[in-house]
Amino acid sequence: MTTGTSRPPIDTGRPHPARVYDFLLGGKDNYPVDQAVAEHLPAEARAGAFQQRAFMHRATAWLAGEGVDQFLDIGTGIPTAPNLHQIAQGIVPSARVVYCDNDPIVLRHAEALLISSPEGATDYVHADVREPGTIIEAAHEVLDFGRPVALSLLGLLHFLPDAEDPYGIVRTLTATLAPGSYVALSQGASDVNPEGGEQGTEEYGKGGIQLALRTRAEFGRFFEGLGLVEPGLVTAPEWFRSAPAPKPEFSGMYVGVARVR
Ligand SMILES: C[S@@+](CC[C@H](N)C(=O)[O-])C[C@H]1O[C@@H](n2cnc3c(N)ncnc32)[C@H](O)[C@@H]1O
Repeated sequence: MTTGTSRPPIDTGRPHPARVYDFLLGGKDNYPVDQAVAEHLPAEARAGAFQQRAFMHRATAWLAGEGVDQFLDIGTGIPTAPNLHQIAQGIVPSARVVYCDNDPIVLRHAEALLISSPEGATDYVHADVREPGTIIEAAHEVLDFGRPVALSLLGLLHFLPDAEDPYGIVRTLTATLAPGSYVALSQGASDVNPEGGEQGTEEYGKGGIQLALRTRAEFGRFFEGLGLVEPGLVTAPEWFRSAPAPKPEFSGMYVGVARVR
C-alpha cells in the first residue's frame, strides 16, 4: 500500500536532494541538474553518502537485534539495496516498516520498498516531514504506536533550516513514540571541515536548495530529553556498537541513536 499517491511530476529543471544523493551513491536515477551539483561538492561528499548509508545499515541491524520490530523512516531516499526493511526483516522477519519521503522520484520507485517479507509489512507515505501529524496518522495503518518504534531521519535534517523548526518537528515526532522507542538521526556537520561545508552550502544553494549544516552542539540539541546510546554523538564511521570502528575515517556527517524514556 502507498499513501498520498497522486503521482506528482518529476521536475528535471532543478536539482533534488534525493537525486543528488543517488548520484553520489553511483545510482542511475538522477538528471544533469543533479549531477552538476554533485560534481561541484567537496571531495568528501561521495564518501559521506556511503558512510551515511552504512550507518543506516548498522543502526537498523542493532535496533532489530535489540528486538525493535517497528520502523518509521522519514527521508528514505531512492531505493538502494539493501534498504532499511531488508536489513530489519533479515533479523526480525515480522518487522513492520513505514517509509516516507516528499520527493516524487522516490514515490515512483516506492514499489521496491514494498516488497516485504511474508511475515512483516511495509508501507510508503508520500509526505513532507514538515507535516509530522500527517505522517504519524498515515503510519498508524501499519505501526502500533502503543509499542516501541524506531524513528529514523537520516541525511534529512540538513535540508531543514532553523526557520522551518526542525527541532520542533523532531520533538513532535518523538512525542508520539512509546517509551522504549528509539530515534536515529544524522546531520551534515558545519564544524568538521568548515571550508568544505561552505562549498557544499554554496553549490546546493545555486540549485535552490538551502543546506543547513550544524555544529556538533547544534546537532546534540535534537536529542534533548532522550537517552543517547553508546557510542553517543559521533561521526558516521565512528558509530559501532559491538566492535570498535575499524580505522578512523574522516567524515562530515554526525550521527546518533537515542532511546525514548
Ligand atoms: C540524503 S537523502 C538520505 C536518504 C536515506 N535516508 C539514507 O540515509 O540513505 C535525503 C532524503 O530526504 C528527503 N527529504 C528532503 N527534505 C524532505 C522533507 N521536507 N520531507 C520529507 N523528505 C525530505 C529527500 O527527498 C531525500 O530522499
